[in-house]
Amino acid sequence: MYMSTDEVRRAFLSFFESKGHQIVDSSSLVPANDPTLLFTNAGMNQFKDCFLGAEKRNYTRATTAQRCVRAGGKHNDLENVGFTARHHTFFEMLGNFSFGDYFKHDAIGYAWEFLTEVLQLPKDKLLVTVYETDDEAFEIWNKDIGIPSDRIVRIGDKEGGKAYESDNFWQMGDTGPCGPCTEIFYDHGEHIWGGRPGTPEEDGDRFIEIWNNVFMQFNRHADGTMEPLPKPSVDTGMGIERISAIMQGVHSNYEIDVFQTLIKEAASIIGTEDLDNQSLRVVADHIRSCSFLIVDGVMPSNEGRGYVLRRIIRRAVRHGNKLGANGTFFYKLVNKLAEVMGTAGEELKKQQPVVEKVLRIEEENFARTLDRGMAILNEAIDELGDNKTLDGETVFKLYDTYGFPADLTNDVARERDVNIDEEGFEKAMNAQRQRAREAGQFGTDYNKAIKTEADTDFCGYSHVSGESVIAEIFVEAEQVGSISAGTEAILILGETPFYAESGGQCGDAGVIKTDSGLFEVRDTQKLGNAIAHHGQLIEGVMAKDDKVLAHVDAERRTAITLNHSATHLLHAALRQVLGEHVTQKGSLVRAENLRFDFSHLEAVSDKELREVERLVNQQVRRNHQVATNVMDIESAKQKGAMALFGEKYDDEVRVLSMGDFSTELCGGIHAANTGDIGLFKVTSESGIAAGIRRIEAVTGEAALDALEAQQAQYEQKVSEGVAKTKQLEKEIQQLKDKLASQAGASLISQVKEISGVKVLISQLDGADNKALRGMVDELKNQIGSGIILLGNVADDKVGLIAGVTKDLTSKVKAGELVNLVAQQVGGKGGGRPDMAQAGGTDCAALPTALVDAEAWITEKL
Ligand code: ALA
Repeated sequence: MYMSTDEVRRAFLSFFESKGHQIVDSSSLVPANDPTLLFTNAGMNQFKDCFLGAEKRNYTRATTAQRCVRAGGKHNDLENVGFTARHHTFFEMLGNFSFGDYFKHDAIGYAWEFLTEVLQLPKDKLLVTVYETDDEAFEIWNKDIGIPSDRIVRIGDKEGGKAYESDNFWQMGDTGPCGPCTEIFYDHGEHIWGGRPGTPEEDGDRFIEIWNNVFMQFNRHADGTMEPLPKPSVDTGMGIERISAIMQGVHSNYEIDVFQTLIKEAASIIGTEDLDNQSLRVVADHIRSCSFLIVDGVMPSNEGRGYVLRRIIRRAVRHGNKLGANGTFFYKLVNKLAEVMGTAGEELKKQQPVVEKVLRIEEENFARTLDRGMAILNEAIDELGDNKTLDGETVFKLYDTYGFPADLTNDVARERDVNIDEEGFEKAMNAQRQRAREAGQFGTDYNKAIKTEADTDFCGYSHVSGESVIAEIFVEAEQVGSISAGTEAILILGETPFYAESGGQCGDAGVIKTDSGLFEVRDTQKLGNAIAHHGQLIEGVMAKDDKVLAHVDAERRTAITLNHSATHLLHAALRQVLGEHVTQKGSLVRAENLRFDFSHLEAVSDKELREVERLVNQQVRRNHQVATNVMDIESAKQKGAMALFGEKYDDEVRVLSMGDFSTELCGGIHAANTGDIGLFKVTSESGIAAGIRRIEAVTGEAALDALEAQQAQYEQKVSEGVAKTKQLEKEIQQLKDKLASQAGASLISQVKEISGVKVLISQLDGADNKALRGMVDELKNQIGSGIILLGNVADDKVGLIAGVTKDLTSKVKAGELVNLVAQQVGGKGGGRPDMAQAGGTDCAALPTALVDAEAWITEKL
């Protein structure tokens, strides 16, 4: 019976649903609150606390299709990918889980039923292993299921290994839940080389483990001790790619539908026809881990998870180059990937543009590194001669200075048949790590070292003050009995109205008082289950068990809540204006302002920002009640509550809604009504990483302040502008005068003598009428004695000016002269005998009028 990968996934989940299991979404590849784990590497990770008994859910049976990455950390398959039939950086693990509910008998029964009845695998193709001493599991397989004892293999601890170091004893990591397991194998047939589990040929490809059923019984501590779990549980895992290979009648995982589609797509983008090339497999594998890591918020960087992602991208790009890729190709596979992942690809579809952009930029940057690094590496290898070992220093230098990952160096060395001095490389790496540690020693956060078992009740949703008792006091990391005035300390109370920083909302500030003491709280943080008040004792003394009155700074708190509610409105408005791809990537809600980071490819335009502001303010005016409801996660999802993708939520969640506009999961504190926000104003929009934008905004009083400040700024700008304009006008006038006097100078050459008197009559074009006066004054000065008449045509108007030096005004009067001309050009004018101005409208008549004027002057003289 053929089944596509998507069909296998759906069949598995609905089978276990029919057996009373809750279908739970895959959790993020970035494990929530688990520093022991680099990436989610098994279905059970998100249930770790359920196995340990530290977390209760409202179901005891669950089933998932969990995305996993095994690259870096305890389970690391990166180097093997592409070279074997079954190693992947990314895969999906199908699993069913029992938290203290059913145990070995049902787990085995369900597994068998699913494989042989739902998938209809032939029973004689299956065989199983159990932990050497697990007689119970052996009996169940043998007696209840009816598997002949020669098909049940007992596997013990590894030779020379410690107890529990066995293929049939599963551990999540060096610490955490673990237990013996039973594994189910599929026999791919005699034509493939390999032996049964437990034989020397077990690593061959004939007998393939398809399903691991772990009987969770212990919590392993760092010192190696095994603490029995409160209730025995079940954790199973079946790689979807392996079981799909069987259902599709193929042997290698790379032959299943998902990989074949990706391999063909990669081949066509890169332009190769060699579909069996291992590099194509590497590319097809790596696009899956890289895309989903980015979906889950990992960004390429030089440390931690980001560095692993960067290494995988670079490895893929290099294999693409080996296949002859020209230019970027890797990011172009995302589209096909989102398509072939079926129900597991929905979130990728939403975030596709961001994922593509992040990959493309990384690819482009790496192309430069790669060229440089390859040249150096090839040269170093060429120089080796007969010595076939590349020194560790060079490998380190490539890594450290050129960003050339060591595993790529390994790949190239393998291809060119050269060894690497691993020890030398490790030495150089360790020296660097030591330097990094030394550099990082400053500013150690001692709070991290505080150990407390205290459990504080939070009563701050409804109160800003309340009575309580001091449960614990810490000075630096030390627990103390009492403190005196001046001491910086951390107080832990039995119950508190102070909100501890979480979900982007900053911690509260305020005061804690006793009859004699006053403690100023500057910040509030979570410490395990306790709420820690950080601050300083200002007066008196305080001691453990003292009765106190805890007062949150209510004004500050209110400002925070307004910003928090506005953040939800902003989130919803952004999705309306920019699109559903907008997902929250981080937020900071403080008294002063709010900050919201989200995925979006380009800068938000001014127009879009105004629209977002308008929408938010509209919701503010509608004055919705901010309603809080606690419900189970499934109902919340049905209500369409926006959850942070990949975030870990309890089964009971708090759902915040503001009318129909915004519904979000949130544990923070909010305004009572949206109207309390008063006013919402964006103060900045910027990019913080590829595909991630940041908006900062203010609300309430701060929004008014911002507007006022903005207005004051505008006013200042305007008055500065006016002053500047005046200054410029003055300068322009001065320049014009200067130009006029220069123009005047050139007019001098047109001076004529009429009856021994200097006469200048001239027509100007486009001169500034206001400048004419200065020009005439200047000309008068220059000729000493004479008559000047200027006509100017500008803006379809005629400007006239006449100047007569005093000694001649008895013969020719400037006023009369101007008037004479003005009448001919459709105007009127007059003035003093020595200086007169007039205007006219008939520009065409000016030349003749000037000729007539000359005749008139000649007559007068
Ligand atoms: N947690 C088990 C595994 O990963 C099922 O194999």
